[in-house]
Amino acid sequence: REFGKFGPLIGAVDEGTSNVKFLVFAANTSEVLTYHQITLKRFSPQEGWVEQDALEILNAVLECIEVTTDNLRKLDINPEDVVGIGITNQRETTIVWNSITGQPLYSAIVWLDVRTANIVDELTKVKGPQCVNAVTQTSGLPLSTYFSSVKLKWLLQNVPAVKDAVRAGECMAGTVDSWLIWNLTGGCQGGTHVTDVTNASRTQLMSLRSLQWDKGLLRFFDIPIQILPKIKSSAEIYGYISSGSLLGVPIAGCLGDQQAALVGQGCMRFGQVKCTFGTGCFLLYNTGDSIIHSQQGLLTTVAYKLGPDAPPVYALEGSVAIAGKFFISLIRLDRSDTLQWLRDGLELITDIQDTEALASEVNDDDEGSICFVPAFNGLYSPYWRKDARGIMCGISEKTRREHIVRAALESVCHQTRSVATAMTTDCAPLGRLLADGGMAQNTLLMQMQADILGIPVIRPLMMESTALGAAIVAGRALRVWPTSTPCPPADTFIPTITSEERDIRRVRWEKALKRCLAWTS
Ligand code: G3P
Repeated sequence: REFGKFGPLIGAVDEGTSNVKFLVFAANTSEVLTYHQITLKRFSPQEGWVEQDALEILNAVLECIEVTTDNLRKLDINPEDVVGIGITNQRETTIVWNSITGQPLYSAIVWLDVRTANIVDELTKVKGPQCVNAVTQTSGLPLSTYFSSVKLKWLLQNVPAVKDAVRAGECMAGTVDSWLIWNLTGGCQGGTHVTDVTNASRTQLMSLRSLQWDKGLLRFFDIPIQILPKIKSSAEIYGYISSGSLLGVPIAGCLGDQQAALVGQGCMRFGQVKCTFGTGCFLLYNTGDSIIHSQQGLLTTVAYKLGPDAPPVYALEGSVAIAGKFFISLIRLDRSDTLQWLRDGLELITDIQDTEALASEVNDDDEGSICFVPAFNGLYSPYWRKDARGIMCGISEKTRREHIVRAALESVCHQTRSVATAMTTDCAPLGRLLADGGMAQNTLLMQMQADILGIPVIRPLMMESTALGAAIVAGRALRVWPTSTPCPPADTFIPTITSEERDIRRVRWEKALKRCLAWTS
């Protein structure tokens, strides 16, 4: 059919932990034509619990689609040129709902939530190391509060409405992608209950080899298979949008957000690595067709599978994310909890955007400089220590807020380096790091990251790598996206310090880290 001047268009739903966006890309050029974004709320009804409203997430997606298509009309672009959409989402966050009423049976339990710490301890004790190790071998993931497995177990054990719905055969469960696809394709009027391999690989219930729900894992966590979605590839038609301005448009791509950023950054070959500095901070290393089990505390995950008959591609992942409230915010400039902690908790800054300017006012070798390990709620990769707590070392009377802000930024870079070192040991050295995500806008952070890693850091000018990845897989499934695209324009940050200086900073950080790990809550 005839298209307008931009040719066929692909929409991308980018449902992150902090924001929902809908963007429209021109398939021929990868250009973003328009988008709309809505901020999501997060609730913490108890210490360590992190929840979101599943209906709020859905309504935000629907509203973003409507406002964006309206923008298209205002730009004189026909929304009918949107030939398909892709979905990318925060991973692990778990939703259960009633298949007859379509209503959520509980809040979405967000990936950051640590209410399942007791379940993790109990399973570790009762099942023993051999069984626990088998879980890691099959799923690629350690036992942790992070993954959907234990969140779903908690829901099945603790929420009467969930138990009733399971008994009545009316319970559906899934990650956010499943919830959205089911609703967008008709909900209780025939919506499709599916997920893709990348999201399924983060539930800890899928075998990395068979790419199917694994009986042993389901038994281990005591999860009934009938409540789970069907696992599909990352690039195929899952169903068609059942209402609104994009009625009848196919949903043709789905990827967890970190995997989507990997695709969006063009890391499609063995050894290519990206880091998304978002609500969390995630490095993914493309390991091609090899399932590499880390000896260094990294996760093994599915990177993508570009069609039902395409082979799966795997990745090693380091989720630095973590210190929940603190660290996470530290690395998000638009809505950062950690930087928010500097602002609202310590009242050190008035605007998160000021952190770059403040940190630039001081140097690492100033008398007042400090070292900071923001392990608010423990540390993830490669340490996996939920008992670690944050620490600031080296405070003197010369220490000013600028030093604290700088140390907060530097802590992101050091944790990233810990993951990069683990990847080098497990696989091969990193040649360069492709950066994206909200906090990658911070130019000082990018330079510090290059200095601390000792390799170039590349930041594309078009920062929406996550949404781009979702658009690419959908566009490929529909055969409207070119198979090779020219290298996008980017900023390159080259290391500016000597290796001696790098080592001095690293030793300082490691000293602080040791103290942080020795602090048990
Ligand atoms: O694993 C959690 C991750 O998918 C969250 O991503 O972008 O919301 O920080 P983001």
